Amino acid sequence: MKILVAGGAGYIGSALVPELLDHGYEVVVIDLLWFGNYLQAGVKVIQKDLFKCEKKDMEGFDQVIFLAGLSNDPMAEYSPSKNFVYNGALPSYIAYIAKLAGVKRFIYASSCSVYGYTVDKLYDENSPAISSYPYGISKLQGEFGALELADKNFSVISLRQGTVCGHSPRMRFDLIVNTMFRDAFSKGKIIVNNPSIWRPILSINDAVRAYLRAVQANYSIGGIFNVASDNYTVGQVGDNVRDDMSVLTGQKIQIELLNRQDLRNYKVNFNKAKTYLGYLPKENITDIVKNMYHHLDTYGDLSNDAYYNIQVFKKIESH
Ligand SMILES: NC(=O)c1ccc[n+]([C@@H]2O[C@H](COP(=O)([O-])OP(=O)(O)OC[C@H]3O[C@@H](n4cnc5c(N)ncnc54)[C@H](O)[C@@H]3O)[C@@H](O)[C@H]2O)c1
Repeated sequence: MKILVAGGAGYIGSALVPELLDHGYEVVVIDLLWFGNYLQAGVKVIQKDLFKCEKKDMEGFDQVIFLAGLSNDPMAEYSPSKNFVYNGALPSYIAYIAKLAGVKRFIYASSCSVYGYTVDKLYDENSPAISSYPYGISKLQGEFGALELADKNFSVISLRQGTVCGHSPRMRFDLIVNTMFRDAFSKGKIIVNNPSIWRPILSINDAVRAYLRAVQANYSIGGIFNVASDNYTVGQVGDNVRDDMSVLTGQKIQIELLNRQDLRNYKVNFNKAKTYLGYLPKENITDIVKNMYHHLDTYGDLSNDAYYNIQVFKKIESH
């Protein structure tokens, strides 16, 4: 099977593409390489803006996995107009030309951010998706645009991912567990912005499992699927990272509790992905932390701009 991974040189793609190759899939990546290229030698990577792609670029592929766009709130808020174009319009356009080219499945990297600020309830895929910030709104628009094209010959699967965390060859330290890991290691202190806020956390290895299950699902399956490893409060995440890093480093790690307002607060039910895709998460925060600790020597300076999407994006935008 031939799979095109659009935006496949980013954080998730750099972990996913090797797994797809290990499973015998033929993979091509199209990516602007904003953050460089950490994919193994031999992977076919085309450095190209997806907006410049046409139907012929999609021909011959069985499936397209869409991982491109502006991938967090700071980028979206730095350039709201670009955010709406890259996250709202681009997935619809790529799904459109993929369908024209006879691609059988389009897998879209959506986000649980679409749920916005919820209170108490566990949200499933039928719950209201109402966010008030550019990233959440645009991810919902992208999802909607792609799903609109679904029919019996074109399966669209939208994976609403929790905050992805853990080690990837293209590393990010601007994701909750990764940031706390960095601070525990380099400052001996973890800042908890608001301990009562809920977040679904998705280990990057579980994210890869979810994409694999989506690729392998029967073509009759489509729709929206929440995916997470589990739901945690930010306070729980902080305590968990502190406990794990204390054991791993032998140092005492402090917690600093703040009471910052957050526009995002949600916990999700991911039973649908278990039932229809066979998705089973295997990792918890301890696994995520241990895996990053294991790769510590490869990171060098943890404050390097390359690890922070907004820093790289600001440089790109200023040129
Ligand atoms: N990381 C998370 O916690 C998370 C959670 C939920 C959803 N998502 C979504 O998953 C996807 C991947 O996330 P990530 O963390 O790997 O992001 P990332 O920023 O690391 O990677 C995005 C990649 O897309 C490429 N790209 C962007 N626009 C492009 C274009 N027009 N043409 C070609 N390439 C382009 C970039 O060069 C980059 O390599 C994103 O769509 C993001 O919104 C991520």
